[in-house]
Amino acid sequence: MDDILIKAENISKVYRLPAEVIRAVRDVDLEIRAGEFIAIMGPSGSGKTTLLDILGCLDRISSGKLGILGRDVSRLKESSLVGIRRGNMGFVFQDFLLIPTLTALENVELPLLFARLPSGRRKAIGLLQKVGLGHRMGHLPKQLSGGERQRVAIARALVTSPKILFADEPTGNLDTKSGDQVFHILKGLNQKDGLTIVLTTHNNKLGSQAGRVVYLKDGSVVPREESSLYA
Ligand SMILES: Nc1ncnc2c1ncn2[C@@H]1O[C@H](COP(=O)(O)OP(=O)(O)O)[C@@H](O)[C@H]1O
Ligand SMILES: [Mg+2]
Repeated sequence: MDDILIKAENISKVYRLPAEVIRAVRDVDLEIRAGEFIAIMGPSGSGKTTLLDILGCLDRISSGKLGILGRDVSRLKESSLVGIRRGNMGFVFQDFLLIPTLTALENVELPLLFARLPSGRRKAIGLLQKVGLGHRMGHLPKQLSGGERQRVAIARALVTSPKILFADEPTGNLDTKSGDQVFHILKGLNQKDGLTIVLTTHNNKLGSQAGRVVYLKDGSVVPREESSLYA
């Protein structure tokens, strides 16, 4: 069906280190449809970040088949994956990753430069207003709270109009209240704008608010009751 944005078939990721072989993701099957809000949950080291990076084309699979928007990307080189990411995906990380010397507004505008898209000052302003930071646009990251920085990062991720937003532990570095605010913004983007969101979290309270939870254990998708989160 054409509303399937991502189709992962039996995908695995293996890291071969000198002393050991780590199976970070094992035989995962997953379909993600337009408009879904998916939380990937599991204990530390269960493969959440690796799986998210694979789905977001930031990392490559060792085996299996990965389709993004109907295109088989399983064997594409990094140079081709860049184009797929730029056109379709936005990313938010636990550590915000804002440029410290640029204002909030400049940080949000930056991806448009990289994507060689026309300047989007008005769009960037609109997005900052949308995440509740219309009054902080000229601030540098160090002049913002953690929650505000993450909201700038969300606006930055959206400025290229991605079809899918990936967020790796977006509330992991935030206090409960700021984390709730950030999660509320993500939920609003999903529910009001229909944005497809895939995030990782080990916060049960937040994860349970997602439309669907994918539980990982030792790199495999497991039923909720087998995930050690609920053991
Ligand atoms: N670049 C890497 N090289 C080797 N091992 C890695 C690498 N990235 C992750 N791993 C290993 O893969 C497993 C899954 O890691 P990760 O996806 O970061 O889990 P999570 O995000 O759930 O904490 C862990 O055992 C981790 O040590
Ligand atoms: Mg992780």
